[in-house]
Amino acid sequence: MPARLEIEGGVPLSGTVTVSAAKNATLPALAAALLTSQPLVIENPPALADVATMTRLLARLGAVVSRDTNGATRVQVEQVASSEAPYELVSTMRASVLVLGPLLARTGVARVALPGGCAIGVRPIDQHLKGFRKLGAEISIVNGYVEARASRLKGARITTDLVTVTGTENLMMAAAGAEGTTVIENAAREPEVADLARLLGTMGARIEGAGTARMVIEGAPELGGARHRVIPDRIEAGTLIVAGAITGGDLTVAGLAPEHLSAVLAKLEECGVGLEVGADRVRVRGPARPRAADVITSPFPGFPTDMQAQVMTLLGLANGQSRVTETIFENRFMHVAELARMGARIETDGATAVIRGVPEYQGAPVMASDLRASAALVLAGLAARGRTSVSRVYHLDRGYERLELKLAGAGARIARTSA
Ligand code: EPU
Repeated sequence: MPARLEIEGGVPLSGTVTVSAAKNATLPALAAALLTSQPLVIENPPALADVATMTRLLARLGAVVSRDTNGATRVQVEQVASSEAPYELVSTMRASVLVLGPLLARTGVARVALPGGCAIGVRPIDQHLKGFRKLGAEISIVNGYVEARASRLKGARITTDLVTVTGTENLMMAAAGAEGTTVIENAAREPEVADLARLLGTMGARIEGAGTARMVIEGAPELGGARHRVIPDRIEAGTLIVAGAITGGDLTVAGLAPEHLSAVLAKLEECGVGLEVGADRVRVRGPARPRAADVITSPFPGFPTDMQAQVMTLLGLANGQSRVTETIFENRFMHVAELARMGARIETDGATAVIRGVPEYQGAPVMASDLRASAALVLAGLAARGRTSVSRVYHLDRGYERLELKLAGAGARIARTSA
C-alpha cells in the first residue's frame, strides 16, 4: 500500500524548523557535473526523490557518484559513457532535460527523451531547443527523443520568447562550454539560476548579469571541478512559514534566505500574518484569522507559482474573498477540488480562482496530485478540525525532505503510514 500522511489537525506549531537545500538549485548543479572530467562536490544535497533520480541519470551517463561521511555528494564524469537520457527516467522527472545542454557542450551529441506534459501543464521545451540551435546545434525529434548534435557550440545572442527557468539553466550550461560569448536576453532571474551561475563561475566560466534578465556568458575551453553549497529552498521555507501561520502558531523557520522570499513575505503580511525577519530566519506568528488578499503568480521576483497552492490554502480560511491568478502553468489548480472536500469554498474560472474564506476546514481523506498541491493538502490538514489522510505522498517526497518529521518536531500530530 503506498504511503499516506495521517494528520490530526488543530495544533499550533512552535519551536524552530530548519530549511534544506533547494531542490531546484541542486538539480541543475548536479547536471553541471557533466561539463567537466573533474569532481564536483555538492556539500549539502537534500535527500529528495528528484535528486536521487538525477543522480541515477548521471550514473547512466558515466558519472561515478559517492557520498562523503559528512553528507556531501561527489560526482565525477571522467568520461561520458552514454549521451542518452532514456524515457523511463525523463518521464518520472522532466528536469532530466537539464542534461541536454551540458552533454551537448561536452561531447557534441545528446539524445534525451522529449518530456510529455505533466499534471500542472503542457510544459514544452521549445525555448531550450531554439537556444541550442542558436548556439549551432542541429536538433531533430526522432521517435520521441530530442537528438542534438554540434561539432563545437559557438556563443550567440539568444532572446527567449518567455521566461523559462530550466531553459535559461540549460542554455547557461551549454554556453559555459561553448566557444566565445553568449548573451541570454529575457533570462530567468530566479535565485536558482543565480546559484547555477555561481557554480559555473567556480568551474571556470565567466558569467555576468546572473539574477538579471540579461546574462553574458564567456565559455571556457575546459571547465574544472568545484565544491558547491546550494542555496536554501525558498519554496520549502515558504511552505513552513505558511504552516506556522495557518495553525496560529509561533514558529521560527531557520536557514533561509529572506531576500529570496520577498514577494511571499509581503503577501503574508498583507494577510495579517505576523513576521519577524532576521538575517537567515523568519519568526512567524499566525493571526486568529487571516485577511483576504489577491495573488498573481509571475516569474521571480514576483509571487512564485510554486507557493500558489499553499497560500491559497491559507486564503481559504480568510475573512473575506480572495482571488488567485495563475499565470505560469495552465493546470495548477488541482488542489482546489481536494480542498473543497475539506470545506473550502473555491471556484475556478480559467486561470483565476475565487476563494470565499470559511472559518475552518474539516479533516478528510484527500489525494495529492503534484508536489506543491500535496504540500497544500498537508497545510490544510494541519489547520483542520479532525483527521486528514493525504494519499499519494510520493509527490511530496519529490521535493520536501522529511516534511512530516520537520512538522512533528514543531508539535504537529502527523505520521506516515503505509497500512
Ligand atoms: N515554457 C515554454 N517553452 C519552454 C519552456 C517553458 O512554453 O521551452 C513555458 C512552460 O510551459 C510554463 C512557463 O514557460 O508555462 C514557465 O516554465 P519554466 O520553463 O520556467 O518551468 P520549468 O523550468 O520547467 C521550473 C521549476 C518548477 C517551477 C517553474 C516556474 C525546476 C526543476 N522546476 O520549471 O518547479 O514551477 O520553474 O518557476 O526548476 C516545483 O518545484 O514544484 C516545480 C514545478
